[in-house]
Amino acid sequence: MSVVVLISGRGSNLRALIEAGLPVRAAISNEPGAPGLAHAAAAGIPARAVAHRDFATREAFEAALARAVDEYAPRLVALAGFMRVLTAGFVARYAGRLMNIHPSLLPAFPGLDTHRRALAAGVKVHGCTVHFVTAELDRGPIIVQAAVAVRPDDTEETLAARVLREEHRIYPLAVRWFLEDRLELADGVVRVRGGDAQAYFACGA
Ligand code: GAR
Repeated sequence: MSVVVLISGRGSNLRALIEAGLPVRAAISNEPGAPGLAHAAAAGIPARAVAHRDFATREAFEAALARAVDEYAPRLVALAGFMRVLTAGFVARYAGRLMNIHPSLLPAFPGLDTHRRALAAGVKVHGCTVHFVTAELDRGPIIVQAAVAVRPDDTEETLAARVLREEHRIYPLAVRWFLEDRLELADGVVRVRGGDAQAYFACGA
């Protein structure tokens, strides 16, 4: 029933998963200096690094990463601000049990600098998405999204902060649904079984 969380930096989503009482068994970062590892360590959860820079190829890095992940035999691998692109091989190894959180309403704004790009595009609604990972970057079946209204005076920072608050709400929700076997995937579309899923009003301030 356990979860391994992969991070690269701050780790606030990792912290949200831990604080939600989810069974996080380990946090692994590709950046040895990631401040987010401290959130796991503080909770007595193994916090480790598999530094991508120590490996000559992406495949060698991913093989080492997979070995570290598999030590915990997790049911779910949750990417939380993990900023390395994963190969199709790695994604296939964890097919159906690899999740990601992305700071936009996918399929809008895949990739980096989502808040800046949302402001530049003049969208009036922005947000975040939890999805199953497929080989295509920031694609894959959508599990849950939360929207925030874009304000006329928003900056990248103010918008990012409001979206992040929603990230911390929806990621624990998605992980819990997965662990409760409530996610059903058919034709690329995820349905959530059970009452509170439908009742969830995924719209922030
Ligand atoms: C989060 O906003 C997450 O959605 C984003 O990185 C941030 C990590 O913050 N992820 C991506 O952009 C992945 N494409 P955190 O380390 O505090 O959780």
